[in-house]
Amino acid sequence: MTSLSKNETAFTAAQWEEIEREEHDRVYAHLDPFQGSDVIDPARVMIWEDYCYKAGARPDRGHRTRRLFELVDIDNLEGKRILDVGCGIGQYSVFFAMKGADVTAFDISPVGVERGKQIARVNGVEDRCRFEVANASDMPYADESFDIVIYHEVLHHAIKYPNVREETLRVLKPSGKVVISETLRGNKLLSLARRISMSGEEAKGDVILETDDLRGFANGFSAYRIEPMSLFFMLKRVFHSRTRNPMVRFLLWSIKKTDDALLAAFPSMRHFCGECVMVMRK
Ligand SMILES: C[S@@+](CC[C@H](N)C(=O)[O-])C[C@H]1O[C@@H](n2cnc3c(N)ncnc32)[C@H](O)[C@@H]1O
Repeated sequence: MTSLSKNETAFTAAQWEEIEREEHDRVYAHLDPFQGSDVIDPARVMIWEDYCYKAGARPDRGHRTRRLFELVDIDNLEGKRILDVGCGIGQYSVFFAMKGADVTAFDISPVGVERGKQIARVNGVEDRCRFEVANASDMPYADESFDIVIYHEVLHHAIKYPNVREETLRVLKPSGKVVISETLRGNKLLSLARRISMSGEEAKGDVILETDDLRGFANGFSAYRIEPMSLFFMLKRVFHSRTRNPMVRFLLWSIKKTDDALLAAFPSMRHFCGECVMVMRK
């Protein structure tokens, strides 16, 4: 028996698609991020990132989502064509449409796509936010169609399918950009903790990317930048369900401030970060 190289997996792309579709369909059938209402208030979206230490903020993926919004240039989306790859239930796709963009969103999960259509309808943007079932390895769009391609927490799934990088380049307009939000495998201690807490997740296609994986994805683009973030702030995962407690919120706020100060004073500590955003220019 020969062992698989780093970029080979035990399943074919078709098998992975089936595994991941079933897994995400199951999750999205019960996911209710808006606690009973699909109405998105754009003014409140911008504080989702502070959920760990702001009372009453909706749980979200944190500061990297806010940074992704900044890189997308969220207040200047009028007339921009956005592609939201692996949109899940489409809450970000709908938010981009509410900010004036013309959005196309797709996912391998039909349940996620149906939820996305519903959220777009409820928020009155179904005319400029279209959803469909598709795989990033074969995007059903013409060459040079989009100004911005978004991968919000998706690349660690999509990267194992063939042609995803090539398809991304193909559908992007000249000088268009790709904005990615991801977790990062840099810190050995963090990787060990994840390996334990995520045991079983890799079998569902969930992997943590390394900086080299991201650099490889940038091949063929004219420029890219990786912005690592979150050192000790990764502890937020441990306290995730306890953020109603003001002491926990204060602790996480203090950790975040410490992280920011450490990274500003010692930039080489970025190698130990657990999350990142990345921007690539065609
Ligand atoms: C962690 S979820 C993120 C969903 C959404 N972007 C968000 O941030 O809420 C990853 C999503 O990627 C989708 N996905 C995984 N591989 C894909 C592929 N090759 N093509 C399209 N979607 C894919 C999954 O079905 C899932 O909905």
